[in-house]
Amino acid sequence: MTDIVFQEVAMRDGLQIEPSWIPTADKVRLIDALSQMGFSRIEVSSFVSPRAVPGLRDADEVFAGIARNPSVVYVGLIANLRGAERALVAGADEINLVVSASETHNLANVQMSTDSSFAAFESIVERVDGSAMLVNGSIATSFGCPFEGTQAEERVLALIDRYLALGVDGITLADTTGMANPAQVKRLVARALEKLPASALTLHFHNTRGLGLANLLAAYEVGARRFDAALGGLGGCPFAPGASGNICSEDAINMAEEMGMRTGVDLPALLALSRTLPGLLGHDVPGQLMKAGRNCDLHPCPQTGLAA
Ligand code: COA
Ligand code: ZN
Repeated sequence: MTDIVFQEVAMRDGLQIEPSWIPTADKVRLIDALSQMGFSRIEVSSFVSPRAVPGLRDADEVFAGIARNPSVVYVGLIANLRGAERALVAGADEINLVVSASETHNLANVQMSTDSSFAAFESIVERVDGSAMLVNGSIATSFGCPFEGTQAEERVLALIDRYLALGVDGITLADTTGMANPAQVKRLVARALEKLPASALTLHFHNTRGLGLANLLAAYEVGARRFDAALGGLGGCPFAPGASGNICSEDAINMAEEMGMRTGVDLPALLALSRTLPGLLGHDVPGQLMKAGRNCDLHPCPQTGLAA
């Protein structure tokens, strides 16, 4: 039993923007480790154009290489029918469709209008109908677009309706470049929850302006229970200027556990894994718990040499 669900997205959102190539074997090793830490959902990779996102061009090999834990839903992001075909062959448990609230960001991200995206989604849903694969619909730039600015709530709600009319199993509202604030989050999430249950709504926050955890709590307070987060605070959309990391999994899980929420995640193991990231990626990462340690990691008193 958990009070809050975290979907680990570092392997997709995080690695799509890493400047250097991360070998397939390292991706598989990280996902296999995450699979044993209590996450019920892991976004593994993207079945998109290798030209658009070269860092994830090995999505098929990664899916083939991982050791599946039957209690984990393994998700692949897709943007077109070809991606859905690849996800079916790879045996993804769920596909994550993506459209943007903003027409401009949709064009930058997937080279088409939002109407064309939904036309493609119709054939995708038809194609996977009858398979066991679940379908989630994401709405990027739900809380603001780096090209257009604030997006009208009515526009986001209308896109939710379009996804629901397609028969998706879940919806994600994404704050692609961290433009959301807690008051806005409360308003939009409360309205979204009039349309679908908390078990089907995921919030995807980026910490670009330092508001990631505040936004998570605001959404939680109005009833949201599912959140995306990335190991080490990796992440960012390559097609959105100024994009930076998702909320950090271990920081968010630490906050939730300190507040008395059960997450089901093995925090010490997660922390140990996040501390391997700078060595693997060749740069520092935004996570704070990995630097500070947990509240229970006490230090010896300088006078006595003994821990308090
Ligand atoms: N898997 C593998 N290759 C694909 C593909 C897929 N799902 N979809 C398209 N391609 C290839 C095509 O074969 C073509 O290859 P070529 O240039 O070697 O001939 C190339 O990608 C371009 O294909 P095209 O159909 O002309 O697409 P496009 O240039 O209009 O781009 C998308 C549209 C959707 C394929 C592309 O923008 C994309 O993959 N975007 C992903 C965005 C993303 O992941 N954003 C971050 C997460 S929100
Ligand atoms: Zn993101």
